[in-house]
Amino acid sequence: MTRVGLLGCGNMGMFVAEAILQGEVEAELVAAADVAETEAMRELAATHGADVQISRDPSELRAADVDVVLEVAHPSAVEEHAVPLVESGKDLIIMSIGGLIEESTFTGLEKAAIRADRRVILPAGSITALRTVQAANVLGGVSRVQLTTTKAPRSLKGAPHFVDNPVDWAALTEPVCVFSGNVREAIKGFPQNVNVAAAVALAGIGSSETAVEIHADPEISRTRHVLHVEGEFGELQAELNLLPRPDNPRSAYLAALSALSAIDKYERPIQMGY
Ligand SMILES: NC(=O)c1ccc[n+]([C@@H]2O[C@H](COP(=O)([O-])OP(=O)(O)OC[C@H]3O[C@@H](n4cnc5c(N)ncnc54)[C@H](O)[C@@H]3O)[C@@H](O)[C@H]2O)c1
Repeated sequence: MTRVGLLGCGNMGMFVAEAILQGEVEAELVAAADVAETEAMRELAATHGADVQISRDPSELRAADVDVVLEVAHPSAVEEHAVPLVESGKDLIIMSIGGLIEESTFTGLEKAAIRADRRVILPAGSITALRTVQAANVLGGVSRVQLTTTKAPRSLKGAPHFVDNPVDWAALTEPVCVFSGNVREAIKGFPQNVNVAAAVALAGIGSSETAVEIHADPEISRTRHVLHVEGEFGELQAELNLLPRPDNPRSAYLAALSALSAIDKYERPIQMGY
C-alpha cells in the first residue's frame, strides 16, 4: 500500500487526506506538514493524531517513512523542498507546477531525481492531454500550442495585469479577450493561472513559444480551458468546462481529483496514456 506524506494541508490537501482516510484509494496517510496551522491540520490532529505525523515544519517530511510526498502547497514550496525530498529518497507528486517553470529549477530537480533514482510525477491537474502533447512533440514536431482560458469576471478581477490594462467590468455584457501573449507573460499578469499555463508549456514547446489568451465572459458559469495544438501529427483541440468543488469555489474539482488519481495510480503496474 502506498505510504503518503502531504506537503501542504489546505483545500486540496484536506480533500486528498479525507479520501485516503476514508479508504477511497489504496494508500496510507503517514505524515502531513503545513507552515500554517490550518483547519485541516487541526481536524487531522484531532481525528488521526495518533496515526498521522503532523508537523508545522515541512522539512520533517524528509525523515518520514513515506514512499511518495504529494505537494499541494505553493510554487515556492516546490523550489524549497522538492530537491531535498527527492534526495531523502521520496518520490514526488507535484501539483504546484508553476514552481517548475524556471528552467534551472526544473533541471535541478530532474538531475536530483536521476541521482537519487526517484520519480517526480506532474499530474494534469486542471488541464488535459499533456501526454498527447508530449507524444506529438517527442521528435520536435509540434509547431503551435495555444491555451485559451475563459473565466467569469469575478475570477479575474484583481489580477496584476489589470493594473496597467484596466477593464470597465460594469460595462461588460459579452465575452472579451483581456490578454494575449505567451506563458511567461500570462503567469506574471495572471498568477492564479500559473499551474495550467506552466503545465502546458512544460509538456510542449516551452513558455516563450506557448501562446495564451485569457477571456472574460460575464455569462459563463464554469471555467473553460481550450487547448489547441498543431504539428506533424495533425491537430488537437481539447476543451474543459470546469466546475469548482462545492466547498472551495476558488479551485477546479478536477484538480483535486487529479491529485487523488495520481496517488491511486502510483503503484499500478499498468499505466495509461503514454
Ligand atoms: N496543477 C493544477 O492544475 C492545480 C490546480 C489547482 C491548484 N493547484 C495548486 O495546488 C496547490 C494547493 O492548492 P489548494 O487549493 O489546496 O491551496 P490552499 O491555499 O487551500 O492550500 C495551500 C496550503 O499550503 C500551505 N503552504 C504554503 N506554502 C507552504 C510551504 N512552503 N510549505 C508547506 N505548506 C505551505 C498553506 O499554508 C496552505 O495551507 C497550490 O499551489 C495551487 O496553486 C494546482
